[in-house]
Amino acid sequence: MLSKTFLAVVAAQLALGQTLTEVLTAQNSSLSTLISLLQGQPDLLSAVAGLSDITILAPSNEAFTTLLSDPAIAAAVQADPGIVPALLSYHVVNGTYYAGDLTSLPGPAFVPTLLTNETFTTVEGGQRVEVRGSSDGVSIFSGGGAESKVTGADFNFTGGTLHIIDKVLTIPSNLTTVLTSTPDLSSLTTAVTTTELVEPLEGIKQLTVFAPLNTAFEAIAETAANLTVEQLTAVLGYHVVSDAVVYSSDIKDGAMVATLQGEEIKLTIRDGSVYVNEAKVVMPNVLVKNGVVHVIDGVLIPKNLASGGDSTPSGTPSSSMPAPTMSGSGTPTPTVVSAGAAGMGVASVGVALAAGAFAVLLQI
Ligand SMILES: *[C@@H]1O[C@H](CO)[C@@H](O)[C@H](O)[C@H]1NC(C)=O
Ligand SMILES: *[C@@H]1O[C@H](CO)[C@@H](O)[C@H](O)[C@H]1NC(C)=O
Ligand SMILES: *[C@@H]1O[C@H](CO)[C@@H](O)[C@H](O)[C@H]1NC(C)=O
Ligand SMILES: *[C@@H]1O[C@H](CO)[C@@H](O)[C@H](O)[C@H]1NC(C)=O
Ligand SMILES: *[C@@H]1O[C@H](CO)[C@@H](O)[C@H](O)[C@H]1NC(C)=O
Ligand SMILES: *[C@@H]1O[C@H](CO)[C@@H](O)[C@H](O)[C@H]1NC(C)=O
Repeated sequence: MLSKTFLAVVAAQLALGQTLTEVLTAQNSSLSTLISLLQGQPDLLSAVAGLSDITILAPSNEAFTTLLSDPAIAAAVQADPGIVPALLSYHVVNGTYYAGDLTSLPGPAFVPTLLTNETFTTVEGGQRVEVRGSSDGVSIFSGGGAESKVTGADFNFTGGTLHIIDKVLTIPSNLTTVLTSTPDLSSLTTAVTTTELVEPLEGIKQLTVFAPLNTAFEAIAETAANLTVEQLTAVLGYHVVSDAVVYSSDIKDGAMVATLQGEEIKLTIRDGSVYVNEAKVVMPNVLVKNGVVHVIDGVLIPKNLASGGDSTPSGTPSSSMPAPTMSGSGTPTPTVVSAGAAGMGVASVGVALAAGAFAVLLQI
């Protein structure tokens, strides 16, 4: 007579031996849409089935129904059928994460996926998803802050495990799309456009941006009317890390990080909140195509600009500014940022970002 234990062992061995396609087929009642999408991408399916140490985030049929009922999605897929394999590969995580590993996470984790196509991301190692777990369950955050909840976990197969999620993940947009679609960042958006930093920022492959809220710009607007475009460019460059994607989980208290402008910013952790110099991170970890954005409540002013000689502000956007000086070294692509060397009194430094102030600034 077979003991219960023996049967359990046999069952475990069978489970251990299940292939990805067997696991998918066994869940056909909830994953048939995913299965048919994968069948339409035979190269991707066989590549993924041959991998080990992966975690598949498998959207349920309901999740796909919701997604596909959005006419914008249908239009996007029509315009670029390559979105389908890209989206599917974003649902394959590099590494095996069982439910137990995820519910006991001490904080958010940013795990790499198999989405590496440069049309969709340049983040080294693959675009990330943010995983947050607690005893209440596990959620996956993707582009636009979309939250997908794990509704069924630990469907193990030979190459790893599979979790069912209730919402299709969103591939993070580019920085421009994120900025222009966030009303609270419209001042920054205007500033980036005015300084012609859109293309340079989009071109950085490993990007971290500390993005001040409109209220942060408003707070200094009064003193900002005389900033030149060069100085504004330097201020913006001081908010950009151009050679690393720094997620909140990477931040160590007291870390100094070189910016595109050349000077370093200081990251601190106080009472569980992250600060950049004196500005507080109010919305961390907005994923973008080439990295991550952290929204902050203050504008960061580089020392190079805030201190120094001539405190007489120049009222005209000047192309006769002294040659750019970069403090710091080793930061790539400094050409996009020319730190105005003419010092301004601390009190007069700021960024005029209300539309009206901009018109004055640029004499338009
Ligand atoms: C999977 O489910 C779909 C939709 O319910 C059905 O058409 C298909 O025959 C099923 N496939 C298998 C292998 O059970
Ligand atoms: C990347 O995506 C683009 C756009 O969908 C597609 O044309 C291209 O073939 C993809 N590249 C790879 C290596 O899959
Ligand atoms: C997973 O990550 C490791 C280490 O970063 C890398 O060597 C490996 O190629 C990745 N696997 C896949 C399937 O991308
Ligand atoms: C899958 O494997 C994990 C880790 O070994 C285990 O905790 C979990 O119970 C397994 N799932 C199933 C359904 O057997
Ligand atoms: C950002 O993405 C949008 C939507 O895909 C696209 O239309 C736009 O050209 C992109 N902008 C840049 C600067 O890459
Ligand atoms: C800006 O420049 C004008 C003209 O030079 C000057 O009158 C004004 O006081 C300056 N504003 C500030 C805030 O420095």
